[in-house]
Amino acid sequence: MAKHRLHSDVERVLITEARIHRRVRQLSREIGKCYGNDEVTLITVLNGSMVFLGELLQRLPMPTRLDSIVAHSYGTHTTSSGRVRIRRGWQLPLKGRHVLLVDDILDTGRTLKLIRDRILRERPASLRVCVLLDKPTRREVDLQADFIGFQIPDKFVVGYGLDFAERYRNLPYIAVLKPQIYRQRSP
Ligand code: XMP
Repeated sequence: MAKHRLHSDVERVLITEARIHRRVRQLSREIGKCYGNDEVTLITVLNGSMVFLGELLQRLPMPTRLDSIVAHSYGTHTTSSGRVRIRRGWQLPLKGRHVLLVDDILDTGRTLKLIRDRILRERPASLRVCVLLDKPTRREVDLQADFIGFQIPDKFVVGYGLDFAERYRNLPYIAVLKPQIYRQRSP
């Protein structure tokens, strides 16, 4: 596997590439155990969960269908605007289906709560939530994920699909940027 040098904008790597791969393998086993042979409709929240979803999906043992939605709450800043918008919804019928909502990070919980409430209106057979990262100290609404990769402290993180102003998604690890980058960078 190619070695990546530490990006010069990175202050600290919070979760290494190896730990992420190990945990995603474990998560896929936990999810597989939960659903057995039932077909699961994965709904992923773009763009941040793309990389996580790609790796998880390949490892899931049960039959799956895949759909995605586009939601926004952050814009180009590191604090949530508090206003969540679903810019493009799912396409597949969800009634009577086992739905697994997959996202990159559970922060205040507003985004996933809004999406979860909308999906519940479709009367799925079940609805569970899987996130790579959870910042429990930031929660503002009553929402817990059923499957969690890692709990992390209240830091704005990038890498493995997560961005700051659409940059750094390609870093293979989860990292915190140098404070001056968060201050300086234009969108
Ligand atoms: P809420 O607050 O609704 O936020 O749970 C969920 C969405 O906010 C984004 N988010 C982050 N993105 N680094 C990021 O790159 C972070 O540390 C971070 N915290 C929240 C993300 O899009 C998530 O889906």
